[in-house]
Parts: sequence; structure tokens; C-alpha cells
Amino acid sequence: MSNQKKLLFLPGDGIGAEVMAQVKRVIDWMDQKRSVNFDIQEELIGGVAIDAKGVPLPEETLEAAKNSDAILMGAVGGPKWEKLPFEIQPERGLLGIRKELGLFANLRPALVFDALVGASSLKENIVKGLDIMIVRELTGGIYFGEPRGVDVNPDGSKTGYNTLTYSSSEVQRIGRVALDLAGKRNNKVCSVDKANVLETTVMWREEMEGLSPEYPNVELSHMYVDNAAMQLVRDPKQFDVVVTTNMFGDILSDCAAMLTGSLGMLPSASLGEVDSNGNRPALYEPVHGSAPDIAGKNLANPLATILSYSMLLRYSFDLVEDANLIENAVKEILSDGLRTGDIMEDGLTQVTTEQMGDAILEKLNVVAS
Ligand code: IPM
Ligand code: MN
Repeated sequence: MSNQKKLLFLPGDGIGAEVMAQVKRVIDWMDQKRSVNFDIQEELIGGVAIDAKGVPLPEETLEAAKNSDAILMGAVGGPKWEKLPFEIQPERGLLGIRKELGLFANLRPALVFDALVGASSLKENIVKGLDIMIVRELTGGIYFGEPRGVDVNPDGSKTGYNTLTYSSSEVQRIGRVALDLAGKRNNKVCSVDKANVLETTVMWREEMEGLSPEYPNVELSHMYVDNAAMQLVRDPKQFDVVVTTNMFGDILSDCAAMLTGSLGMLPSASLGEVDSNGNRPALYEPVHGSAPDIAGKNLANPLATILSYSMLLRYSFDLVEDANLIENAVKEILSDGLRTGDIMEDGLTQVTTEQMGDAILEKLNVVAS
């Protein structure tokens, strides 16, 4: 095939391997039936990397990540590694790869599928048709700011500190991602900050305002993060694109995810800057974690990872038709009433991880025939 691209698979921990196995089946199908052909390499990250090599982000993994056209990750973390020193916990692997590849823009869509409105903990009229995009800054803010640490005081007590920093250019580049995206959606950006308390976010707000004239068709508004959390559960449909700092985005995206009924349904993309060759580092992963309690039991919902793969096709390779194929297959499966345990409702059919994969392939075969 002419357009062979390099994909890096990082299954990681817990349910990571099981859900990625289902994506692999979708990719194999596409290799045979469609134009796209990927060269897939697999490496270790997180707890499995600690077990095999002593560190959560081995050199080989980082090298492979830098040499790939796109990365698909499962999940990292689990109780087995929680007691390890902070510096080598599985999460450091994920934070490390984000930082090393400069994946500053984290796109977290929260989309309510019609067939799943009943799975949301909110009333149907509040979430039906919900389609919002949280754009979270991912390589700056309090997650990475210096100084950071815990000092021991002369009296033996301790003082812990982390620093919330953003430069103008960091705010502008994430702001542009959000404003551009809104232009392809419903032309609204809500920038979330804590400008009534934190100076850094006063500046964040000013920088966002400064960008606004470049995007005359996009309506820019601002909201404090506490209010935004409340509005997300009160009337989430008021939002189109939400742009915010690393930590606020971490929290708000979990909240937005739950509006949709299941974390098991949500994909995400983390994008870097386009380089001089037109390449853009990109990592795709489900929003859910490694779910150690159900790992290895063929119970996990593979749909978030499968949808992450369709985001990969859309954002990294502009393969819109293939991405739509997968998304439509997911919608149809849900309308048919197939559910993994996390989104199960009375009267529907509970299936395993693998059966969900079978169902996706069946749908794809129908469309292709
Ligand atoms: C996320 C996760 C990570 C984060 C953890 C695992 C480091 O919660 O991707 O939202 O806080 O960014
Ligand atoms: Mn999180």
C-alpha cells in the first residue's frame, strides 16, 4: 500500500490490552477493505513498563513515540504500583510522554448518543443531543510549574507547594485551537478560569480576549471554574467549546464525561504543534482509566478506545470517511441494544469486550458489502 503510516500502540495497564485488541481487529479490517494501511509497533508504558524495565516511560517507548505518525494508548496505572516512589509511578509515564512530545492540546468531546440518554445520571431533557468539546491545556499550568515540592521545616512540619504558571504564548496556542475548533462547530468558546482569585488566570482571560478579534465569527465568553462546574450539570447544552487550564480541564472533563452516562464511551486526542514538515505529534486515548477491578475479565467497554481510533483517523490523517464509518457502526450497535456492563440498562443485551468487537466488525462488513 502506498500510504503506509506508523502507528504506535501503547496498551499500558489494566483493561488497556483488552480494549486495544478490539481496535486491532478494526484496523486489520480496514487494512483489507479500505485504502488505509498502518505499520503498527507496540511498546510499554505505565505499570507494565515499570515491571519490565523499572521505569514508566522507557527510552525505547519515547523513541518510538517520536518516530510515529500517531499513538494510540490504552490506560495506565493500578493499585499494584500505587506505593512506588512518586517519581516512578505509572502516571509519570503518561505525563512524561505528553511533555516530551509537546502534546499541549487535549480534546475531550462529551457526546451523548441518543441510545444512551437513559444511562446518564441527569434527566433526559438536560442531556439529549449534548455535544460539547472540552479543550484542556495539557503541558503547562500547575501540573508542570516550578518550583514544586515538599520542604521540611525546621520544626519538623512540612510545606508543600506547586506553581500555576502560563506564558502568553502557551495561552494563545491553546486558545487558537479552541477558537479554530469552534469555527467548525457552533461558533462558541467559553474560556474557564478563576480570574477572581488567581492572577495567572487574569492574564489567561486577557490573552483569550486578545485573540478574539481574529475570530469574528466565534463568540467568546468567560466563566469562573466553580460556576462552570455547576453549569455543566445544570444546563450543559449552553456550551459548545470549553477551553481551560490543565487542572481545571482535568476536573471538568471528568464531570462532562459523566453527563454522557459512561466514561467507557469517551475518546480523547492530545495534539502537539505542527512541525516544519507538516507533521503533528498526536496521542489518542480513552478518557477512562485502567479499571483494575475488571481487567482481564472480558468485561471492559472497548468503545472509547475504538472511538479514539476514529478520532485518530479524523485528526491525524484526515480520513473522514473511515472515521465516520466507525462512528456510525458504534451508533448502530447501541441502537441495537448491545451494552457492556458499564452502560447496561434493563431489557438490553449485555455483551463482553470481544462480543462488542465482533459487533463492530459485523456492522462494518454490512456497510462495506
Ligand atoms: C487524565 C488523568 C491524568 C491527568 C492522570 C492519570 C495523570 O487523570 O488524563 O485526565 O491528571 O491528566
Ligand atoms: Mn483526569
